[in-house]
Amino acid sequence: MEINKLNGFLNGEIRVPGDKSISHRSVILGSISEGKTQVKNFLMGEDCLDTIKCFRKLGVKIEIKEREVLIHGVGINGLKKPDGPLYAGNSGTTIRLLTGLLSGQSFETTILGDDSLSKRPMERITKPLSLMGADLNCNENKYPPIVIKPVDKLNGIKYKQSKASAQVKSSIMLAGLYTDDDILINQPEISRDHTERMMKYFGVDIKVDGKKIYMNGKKEKLKSRNIFVPGDISSAAFYIIAALIIKDSHIVIKDVGINPTRTGIIDVMLEMGANIRVSNKRVVNEEELGDIEVKHSKLKSVEIGGDIIPRIIDEIPIIALAANFAKGKTIIKDAEELKVKESNRIDTVCYELNKMGMDITPTEDGMIINGGKKLKGAKVDSKGDHRIAMMLAVAGFISEGKTYISNFESVNVSNPNFIKIFNSICHIWVEKNWIFIYNLSVKKKRRIMMKNKLPIALSNRHVHLSQEDIEKLFGKGYELTPIKDLSQPGQFACDEKVDLVGPKRTIQGVRVLGPARSQSQVEVSLSDGFTLGVKVPVKGSGSLEGTPKITLKGPKGQVELDQGLIAAARHIHMSVEDAEEFGVEDKQIVKIKTYGPRSLIFENVLVRVREDFALEMHVDVEEGNAAGLKNCEEVEIIR
Ligand code: S3P
Repeated sequence: MEINKLNGFLNGEIRVPGDKSISHRSVILGSISEGKTQVKNFLMGEDCLDTIKCFRKLGVKIEIKEREVLIHGVGINGLKKPDGPLYAGNSGTTIRLLTGLLSGQSFETTILGDDSLSKRPMERITKPLSLMGADLNCNENKYPPIVIKPVDKLNGIKYKQSKASAQVKSSIMLAGLYTDDDILINQPEISRDHTERMMKYFGVDIKVDGKKIYMNGKKEKLKSRNIFVPGDISSAAFYIIAALIIKDSHIVIKDVGINPTRTGIIDVMLEMGANIRVSNKRVVNEEELGDIEVKHSKLKSVEIGGDIIPRIIDEIPIIALAANFAKGKTIIKDAEELKVKESNRIDTVCYELNKMGMDITPTEDGMIINGGKKLKGAKVDSKGDHRIAMMLAVAGFISEGKTYISNFESVNVSNPNFIKIFNSICHIWVEKNWIFIYNLSVKKKRRIMMKNKLPIALSNRHVHLSQEDIEKLFGKGYELTPIKDLSQPGQFACDEKVDLVGPKRTIQGVRVLGPARSQSQVEVSLSDGFTLGVKVPVKGSGSLEGTPKITLKGPKGQVELDQGLIAAARHIHMSVEDAEEFGVEDKQIVKIKTYGPRSLIFENVLVRVREDFALEMHVDVEEGNAAGLKNCEEVEIIR
């Protein structure tokens, strides 16, 4: 993937795909409940689709319609032996949660994963599940595939987690649905609690008291429920940070999950001085959601560690990037868990961001960032880790030059629309030099202009004709044939061409532009004048008094114009509204600066203001070439 520096800002309202953790859990609990569970805004990313495929193999009918999933629950004991191994792909959540659930089944299952998942540690779940009596076997006792054999009975457990992990506690809780004994889990810090909330929503008797989770021995059947999956704050994090660090940005991300066990990113960024506001808070299916408004902000460095880490665990790569835009030294510690995510996120983040010019050093349990470095595009590698790929793309937007990200397609794991969503709020160079912004206050799109910039158009030699001359050249009653609209409203290029006959030579096949005018006019370059053998004056359009004569030859006759041969003076067309924004008036003479290797300043540029003019500077091809310009390139008014 090639990412260019974003020459502008982010503005607008977006939605991010559904929460990954909640989407997984909706399939798991929906499958073992009684009745149909309809899930709206389900995350159609590879991880969650792999969970769906696993449950289909376990005999559950699951229908997918756009962003909606319909699960025909089979009840707590209704899962069937699959006809082969289950494939969890890249998803740690799928393999760890399913291992818990399948520990209590009466059939054997094997769960495998991709290369990355096959290197991720599983003892964290096999240890407590084995204490519950599960019969589990892993590769080298710790890696997938995991073989799960049926056992007569699972026991309850009182388990003190050594590290905060939602996947581990969820795995125990799911196994806990298959024992009549009590379950008590004690967490060192509170990790995301979607399983607790969704189990409650499905009717499981579960109590949470601070860091302790209790499940009662007597298990009720799970009742099917409808679920709306809030937007994933872990996906929103990339847009939040992008808006904070890209100057002039202002975005709103609608309907994002703001479960307090997940909002560490907001707390950290607020501490760093970010302008973030959460509004429209409400609760659906036991989960809070709201709208997150973010404005570009000046950031300051912080020290991040301790019990906030589980609440930002997936957001640390993008927080590390944000720290470059904060004054001073940011320290991230107590995050050794990052080493066993989809990649070793401490090493990958530091290695790749160093390449882009950041001052970032890995430590045993985190990283140290000295902010304020200018970033430059580089060749970087996501190492197949979706969150690293997205973080590097945001880094690319704010780096000088181009950034090339390999293994970018991993974004499909959690946000297949990652770039598309960015495109919807990066209103840069959409049409010529106009950018479209979504005006949040009036909730309407309006176009604004990059400061003092406008597009240039290079005019080739052409002819404007009066109706009388059209008929002389092309025949009585003849009408011009438009073939292409020009940017000025009502103007068009015609199929018709004429020859210009000069005293020295003839220039053949010169395009006629329509519509017919009150007087004929021939616009050529100064070099064309040499070819024709005429000294051509530089004149404004329509100022034909005293200009040289020229003969035009058409298929049906010829016309001798007494005057009308000119080299058009440089000029700018603009509307009244444009003139106001540029602070210029009709007939004013301005200077225009051009860019590129042949950059120069055009003096004596005439401003022409008319209500219906489209913003554009016109020079002839010869002048355009002298400045090395192409059509639509931007130039700048200077005074
Ligand atoms: C998840 C829990 C977290 C998180 C992962 C999803 C979950 O992992 O990093 O992306 O859905 O339960 P840990 O439980 O290993 O911290």
